[in-house]
Amino acid sequence: MNPVELRPGIHWVGVNDRITDLFEGQWPLPYGVSYNSYLVVGEVVALMDGVKAPFAEELVANIAQIVPPMEIGYLVVNHMEPDHTGSLPLLRRIAPRAEILATPTALPLLESFYGIRDRVRTVADGERLDLGGKVLSFHPIPFVHWPETMATFEETERVLVSCDAFGGFGALDGVLFDDEADLAHYEAEAVRYYANIVGAVSKPVLKAIEKLKGLPVEVIAPSHGLVWRRDPGRVLDLYRKLARMEGEPAVTVVYGSMYDHTRRVADAVARGVAAAGVPVRVVDAARVHPSTVLAEAWRRRGLVLGSPTYDTGIFPALDHALRLIVGKRLANRVVGLFGSFGWKGGAVRKMADEMAALGWDFVDTVEFPGAPRRDDLIRAEALGRAVAERVKG
Ligand code: FEO
Repeated sequence: MNPVELRPGIHWVGVNDRITDLFEGQWPLPYGVSYNSYLVVGEVVALMDGVKAPFAEELVANIAQIVPPMEIGYLVVNHMEPDHTGSLPLLRRIAPRAEILATPTALPLLESFYGIRDRVRTVADGERLDLGGKVLSFHPIPFVHWPETMATFEETERVLVSCDAFGGFGALDGVLFDDEADLAHYEAEAVRYYANIVGAVSKPVLKAIEKLKGLPVEVIAPSHGLVWRRDPGRVLDLYRKLARMEGEPAVTVVYGSMYDHTRRVADAVARGVAAAGVPVRVVDAARVHPSTVLAEAWRRRGLVLGSPTYDTGIFPALDHALRLIVGKRLANRVVGLFGSFGWKGGAVRKMADEMAALGWDFVDTVEFPGAPRRDDLIRAEALGRAVAERVKG
């Protein structure tokens, strides 16, 4: 995509990545992802964030459409993760006078990732930098997503370059702004991005939202996904809700099944939820990627997990999904459990053990041997109804 001037003197010069299959080596990118980079042209030129290494030349070509890249005076490193800093080695070569601006916490990462020690200046919280016609101020937002992360605010045009905060998966399909995009698509990809990448640092996200509230922001320009100029409050609200882990008043049923016995019970649970008038989504953990399972669990307040006992424990696909959910510290869930076994149980107890640390609101359990009988399916429907009623309440 060619550069886009999002406000006078502030240009998107980023790239779309439609090649990487797995973000961070694990999260699928069926619709790609964008690495947003912003060029601020005052009397001095600053580049805010870069791109992943394989796209560095495309970034430089985009910059060259606006200014000669060697004239860049500052490279603002809001965040050290290589999807934004992989282009640093090339940028250092083509802009030899440019000074890197970053938080003090970024210094050891600059050295360990790229061997960079010189032409680096640390910035303090709230420090301002006059570029001549454009003014930047720096606002650390630690742990959104790494400890060194900061946001940069351009004061004359009131553009907040927020880094990973308020970002989402999904390459830019010919659009850059919220007012020209298919929001349903980008918000679904933002939820998946949030659950996968940012979810574990939800407390710092809430702190960042509080901290940045004091700035007179008119445009939110994150490092992935859409730029929000019509309604920046919309993406703020979305992130606030996701970080609070409130969840929609709905239920996700996640199950694994070897011989369809547990699947039949999953369907019975879902019937109970739907009969209570609550939306429900059923997810087969063995067939739906954990990235999506995690996002589905993050979206809805109710969560019912079902597993057959496998090797005395939890069915592996369900176990993987549950460990991710636990690892991301998803809170505020109303939960039910169900499971089947051949000669000796174990999965349901182990699921209960795994989730104990999260303080979830536990409703009930259905466990049965072999194939589900009629009364097992009736109990499963009752479990679904009970979870739904508590979610509504
Ligand atoms: Fe988009 Fe945490 O990097």
